[in-house]
Amino acid sequence: MFNVSRRFKRLLYLLFFLLCILYVKYLHSVYLENESFSSVDVDFSELRRSTKENYILSADYILLVKRCTTSSKSASHALLASLKLQVKVKEISDDDDSFTLSKPLPYLIILDDNTIVHFLKEPIYQIARNVIIANSVPIVAICANFEQCNYHARALPPAIAYYKSYVRTSDHELLEILKQRFVYENISSTSLVFSLSPQSKETVNGIQPLVEIPANNVDLNKIPENMRSEVKKSKLISAYYDSGKVDSIPKVVLGNDLKGNDWLYKVLFLEACNYVTKRKLSFGLTRLIQVDIDDVLMPAKLRENALTKTDINELIKFQKSVSSFIPNFGLKLGFCGDFFTRGRHPEEIEAFKYLARSRKDEFTWFPHLFRHYQPHNLTFNKLREEMLENKKFAAKYGIKVDGSYAVSPHHSGVYPVVHILYQLWKDIWNVSVTSTEQYPHLKSSHGRKGFIYNDISVLPRQVLGLYTRTLRFNDYPGGILGLERDVRGGDSFMTILLNPVAIYMTHIGNYGADRLALYALRNLFHFVATNTNLKLRSASPAQMAQYHFNVFPEQTLPVWTMPCDDKRHMEIVPKGFKCDSFPQMIIVGPQKTGTSAFQFFLSAHPDFSTSLPSDQSFEEIQFFNNDGYYLKGIDWYKSRFPIMARSSQVNFEKSASYYDKYKVPHRIKSLLPNVKILMLLRNPIDRAYSWYLNEVSKMEKVSLTFSELIRSNLTDPDAPDFIFRSKVLTPGFYFKHIRRWLETFALKSVYFVDADFFAEKPAEELQKFIKWFRPEEKPVFNFSTIIEFNKEKGLYCLKKSVSAKNCLGASKGRSFSQSYDKLLPVDREFLRNFYMADMQNLKLMFEKKNISIPTWLRTWR
Ligand code: A3P
Repeated sequence: MFNVSRRFKRLLYLLFFLLCILYVKYLHSVYLENESFSSVDVDFSELRRSTKENYILSADYILLVKRCTTSSKSASHALLASLKLQVKVKEISDDDDSFTLSKPLPYLIILDDNTIVHFLKEPIYQIARNVIIANSVPIVAICANFEQCNYHARALPPAIAYYKSYVRTSDHELLEILKQRFVYENISSTSLVFSLSPQSKETVNGIQPLVEIPANNVDLNKIPENMRSEVKKSKLISAYYDSGKVDSIPKVVLGNDLKGNDWLYKVLFLEACNYVTKRKLSFGLTRLIQVDIDDVLMPAKLRENALTKTDINELIKFQKSVSSFIPNFGLKLGFCGDFFTRGRHPEEIEAFKYLARSRKDEFTWFPHLFRHYQPHNLTFNKLREEMLENKKFAAKYGIKVDGSYAVSPHHSGVYPVVHILYQLWKDIWNVSVTSTEQYPHLKSSHGRKGFIYNDISVLPRQVLGLYTRTLRFNDYPGGILGLERDVRGGDSFMTILLNPVAIYMTHIGNYGADRLALYALRNLFHFVATNTNLKLRSASPAQMAQYHFNVFPEQTLPVWTMPCDDKRHMEIVPKGFKCDSFPQMIIVGPQKTGTSAFQFFLSAHPDFSTSLPSDQSFEEIQFFNNDGYYLKGIDWYKSRFPIMARSSQVNFEKSASYYDKYKVPHRIKSLLPNVKILMLLRNPIDRAYSWYLNEVSKMEKVSLTFSELIRSNLTDPDAPDFIFRSKVLTPGFYFKHIRRWLETFALKSVYFVDADFFAEKPAEELQKFIKWFRPEEKPVFNFSTIIEFNKEKGLYCLKKSVSAKNCLGASKGRSFSQSYDKLLPVDREFLRNFYMADMQNLKLMFEKKNISIPTWLRTWR
């Protein structure tokens, strides 16, 4: 089964690769005919590409290294957050010599503030430096104070890297400097050039200045006296590229205070990241834009907000003017037919008639529901009726609808997913694309994302700060200036900068009244077109989806989140939805360490309930590692647990295959942020042999003996025994796997069980676990009242009085005297060497983190 699935995966990869080639060819043929979106604009060679299951450019790969001493958010942290790039923060302390990277390649390391000097200079960071050099990990270093910038700049006399609070350079001047210094093809006089390709320039020690700020901008009074004369005659370096001639670490150093809302610095920083990663972080300059107007026939509540015919004409004018720089630009109108007959104000009723009868062909239309009901509150039949009625309405008025795209009232049903909405969208409209602001959350600190569910692409949606209320200029937070700040380098600008596609949506009210939406969009597009080299283009929803998921292939599968932790999500889940029966603890493996016995005994505790058996899946749920189950959604997962009968009940599950799967920790953390993780650690040699016996017991013919298998040098993943060997041996690299789990879960949420101790004294170990998991449980349940040693089994079982099925089956705890050979000492020795480095690292890590070291591990040295 496993062999097949791995081979199947490989086949899929190959297929995916071939599809990509076909896709590029297809785009060539299609887009070249379509003026609005030319293939020339999309540099597919720069798209994010995967290294197996890891995506090079997943923002997860940006690792911010900062020193433990700084408790507050650092400048680079703030900057990355403002760019909505997810980072992993690695704090390093002076005695930390274990700087390691769990994923092979590539990370982009951001060295923060005062870390830089220590990191590059001190011998204790030698390991980290070696890792960086060996893996050619690119670095962007940010120095936020004079001393450290100076340290970096000293190789470049007489220049000095400096920080911004001392430099009175206005945005305008910096813009000019950037224009002169940075070159990108197609440079035009009105375009700010965003590429860090320096004009050829003399380098000193492999260091090239990238941005220089003339010294006459410096407030010398703020500079230490002994530095003033040097500063006076120097040009100050705001950013420079160090090719790594001296320390073998190529890097860009930005010498400025990057905390502010200064969009130029954000762009500069982003470009620095692109530059050191050889533009792998970049997805080119093309940005696909779509503007949706929501609830287009919705009557205004106040007369002064009512839409007029002139407003409709303004929409048409706007489309035309934007088309001059976004070819084929058109607004998309979403309609609920029922609103058409409900206008409150005569003028507005006239305007709607004018739109629906005379001007309808000027726009593209997309469906809502007939009555603006929320799908999560509807039955299948009612939802179907709503969609069909809306379709009938469009037919009656001759409105040509592009059914490939639809949105749902209040995002209901899109995320959190309501399956019937997706199903009916497909059946009735043949929808292939939708959009939402709700995934993963409305709060956009880490940026909105997309996913594909039931073959429908869900794209992230932006709102220009306008949402669904009709706003007047003065209502906008911060007034008109606030709006301008937002579009001129603020959040709305950033959404264009950082996303391959941007779908803007606000409801019709903001196209009447003060026409705030038109004002904002016009400003935004104009700002981008005149200050950047970004190319804004329009495209069909399907093209937008293709582009988005080509750039972010890792977003294809959704990552479920916990609805109960998000107020907005709770507003759009079915009434009475509860989260309390989700598990509070998961035994994640690895296999053959005693996980079933732990689950079996713990379930006998009066408060602990494990998952329910099901004929729809394996004995284990395997929800987080099996994409097929995962896509069944969180309701399916929840239904696998008993309903909460009392508040003290603890639901838990055991899926030992979670342990070594790359995507599992992140998926678990996202859905169950407070869950506790339990892993059992058995001597990896015994674990490997146990798994081998387990597998061969199911085989008709055994291809390799254990001795042959462990010594086989299988490097070809298609070799018949490659997967068998890796299943036997790979989970045993405990250090590698545990380090990954600890990158996602705090140490305080993870419990390690010494598997040998547990096998010998299960009651004692279980009690220890309860004390850790529920310190408030007093007295702690006495497991020895239900567990006893079973001579026949040679291991512990439940007492007969507790359960008729009191022992685990024959595959758990094999009796060697009967049909199985014992592990040969030479094989044991071989595997000891095989695992030695990993075990030594594990021991070191446990010592450092104050984790109790399993008895069997103590002898590995
Ligand atoms: P062996 O079959 O090699 O003896 P898992 O449930 O994770 O697959 O682990 C199976 C292992 O659990 C068995 O490996 C066995 O040694 C161990 N184990 C520990 N206590 C047990 C118990 N009370 N009953 C059955 N197996 C137990």
